[in-house]
Amino acid sequence: MFSAARNVLKPATRLVQARPFVAGGARAYQHTLPPLPYAYDALEPYIATEIMTLHHTKHHQAYVNGLNAAEEAYATTDSTAKKISLQNALKFNGGGHINHSLFWKNLSPVSEGGGKLVQGGDLEKALVRDFGSVDAFKTRMNTTTGAIQGSGWGWLGYNPVSKKLEIVTTANQDPLLSHVPIIGIDIWEHAFYLQYLNAIWNVINFEEAEKRFVEALKE
Ligand SMILES: [Fe+2]
Repeated sequence: MFSAARNVLKPATRLVQARPFVAGGARAYQHTLPPLPYAYDALEPYIATEIMTLHHTKHHQAYVNGLNAAEEAYATTDSTAKKISLQNALKFNGGGHINHSLFWKNLSPVSEGGGKLVQGGDLEKALVRDFGSVDAFKTRMNTTTGAIQGSGWGWLGYNPVSKKLEIVTTANQDPLLSHVPIIGIDIWEHAFYLQYLNAIWNVINFEEAEKRFVEALKE
């Protein structure tokens, strides 16, 4: 997360600042940073204010800027070679924007229900069915996610083919396409990530997860 985002911040910011604003425009490259659904310090003591601020205002913003720049470059070139060369930037920044937009909603302050699974809900029943227990699910999610090398994402996803909840990982900023994302955990190369993994369950927004799961079942 941190190193990769740092690499794209400067050039992307410059490109977007140079782009004229199109009022009410429906052009693809007008992505904007979604506001956090809570204050930057709302997840303390589990996730530090400084981390939340940097992660949202610098890193997610960099993905938004990079995506806008790549989509604009793609839309304004007739060169097939140039379009092919933009694929990595589209995937990295587009995935980063999609994943982080899901991630913020996956978290919730303890005072607003963070960490509390909806008792007796469809998600709890499915977690017990597919993993044996909620605690067994959390342990497997931590183990699988903690084994990611470098940057990536750990996901609880709904597999629309097997109709089961499964734990999957994606590398770098690759979005989850094979499953419907229910809970996503952002992992980056950082010394305290195990502490982070244990702490994050205190602020997981299970209400949002429940909502996504119920929607996934309808598809
Ligand atoms: Fe991130």
